[in-house]
Amino acid sequence: MRITELRKTVGKTDLYIEDLKIESGRIHGLVGPNGCGKTTLLKLIMGTAEPDSGTIDYEGLRPAEITMMSQRPYLMHTSVYENIIYPLKIRGIRIDDAEINALLERAGMLEIKDQYAGSLSSGERQKLSFLRATVFRPKLILMDETLSNLDAESAGLFREMIIERHRDDGSTWLIVSHQWDAMNELFDEVHHMEKGRIVKNETP
Ligand SMILES: Nc1ncnc2c1ncn2[C@@H]1O[C@H](COP(=O)(O)OP(=O)(O)O)[C@@H](O)[C@H]1O
Ligand SMILES: [Mg+2]
Repeated sequence: MRITELRKTVGKTDLYIEDLKIESGRIHGLVGPNGCGKTTLLKLIMGTAEPDSGTIDYEGLRPAEITMMSQRPYLMHTSVYENIIYPLKIRGIRIDDAEINALLERAGMLEIKDQYAGSLSSGERQKLSFLRATVFRPKLILMDETLSNLDAESAGLFREMIIERHRDDGSTWLIVSHQWDAMNELFDEVHHMEKGRIVKNETP
């Protein structure tokens, strides 16, 4: 995917991405201080916000193949299980119960699969949002500080899940994280953002 001369004014911030290449099949990090425009950029890529001008060339990627996990995940007013299978339902993908249960088990959420999603703790909400966003095997995954409320053990588990998924299907990841976040060890490439601009791209 290639982003060119993308502009969007939100509040007092002018987002301007002159030229950003999101190489497919890699894990990209997006880091920068609060309010620099990271969430806005993800929304523009996801298509939930409209740019003022500029272009995003998806290079053949279809909207249904992109997923975004937001900072404050919106969960449906149903059970944990129903939330997870929803993306499969709407895409008409066959639901393999055993596979879903294995996923829940791995995430340590099997016992709460019938629990009302609204009753989950913030860490559990983030885990559920991760499982729901990735269950249909999207090709591009946008993550907005999604694992920030997890304990170290859970965060480690989800990092492992990202690595495995990436290895299995060559998906592309764009992950917003904090400078000292343990997520950073995953990144093939890191894009640094400041005041609405990309100021540095590096390969750690
Ligand atoms: N709907 C909005 N109305 C007004 N200002 C907004 C809106 N959304 C975001 N902003 C402002 O735009 C800037 C960038 O926000 P955001 O992309 O959320 O930053 P980040 O995710 O890097 O913390 C911030 O100054 C924020 O306050
Ligand atoms: Mg943000």
